[in-house]
Amino acid sequence: MIIAVDGPAASGKGTIARALARHYGLPHLDTGLLYRAVAATVLREELDPEKEADAVASCGFPDSLLDDPQLRTDDIGKVASVVSAHPLVRAALLQRQRRFAQQPGGAVLDGRDIGTVIAPDADVKLFVKATPTIRAQRRHAELRKAGQNVSLDRVLADIRARDDRDARRTQAPLRQADDALALDTSFLSIEAAVQRAISLVDTRLAAA
Ligand code: DC
Repeated sequence: MIIAVDGPAASGKGTIARALARHYGLPHLDTGLLYRAVAATVLREELDPEKEADAVASCGFPDSLLDDPQLRTDDIGKVASVVSAHPLVRAALLQRQRRFAQQPGGAVLDGRDIGTVIAPDADVKLFVKATPTIRAQRRHAELRKAGQNVSLDRVLADIRARDDRDARRTQAPLRQADDALALDTSFLSIEAAVQRAISLVDTRLAAA
């Protein structure tokens, strides 16, 4: 069974994907980490994320880099969004994601293009969304908790800029697949969102 979970930054897709993986006993891949690893490598090598060749040269990172907590910062997320717009970067990371999706027993993958490009035949596709303001409030609270003092306006502007870049790129833009089930987490607690996701998956599986 392959479960595809897509959605914009801070929509709750990562939390939901992890919870689904645990619930159904499946391995999970956060595909944003791959683009974040490319971004971190570009910065470490002092290359230019806007240059496709520089970003492509950074795609051979070791798997161990994916465990680095530094990848999860907002600054790396922003650069990840830039490198992810290059078609050759997406091509370089495609097989790695497909292999993960096609392992025996199945998998849960979350990202922006899982249901549309990486696993178009996934058994269940969820598109997780929430209003930009609510996503900014969540991210702002997380940053405050981590001791980072940024304004809510700044976080909201960053979220809008990232949405825009992820949705406007020509290659595999952020988009709800035609056969994806939408899950709006704007007014749901984490627990309620996870319960809703499980019931959507169960309903879709029962109908198959
Ligand atoms: O989900 P995230 O915030 O970790 O993703 C970081 C960036 O990586 C995101 O802004 C766009 C890119 N990305 C992508 O293009 N395709 C994916 N499947 C996952 C992430």
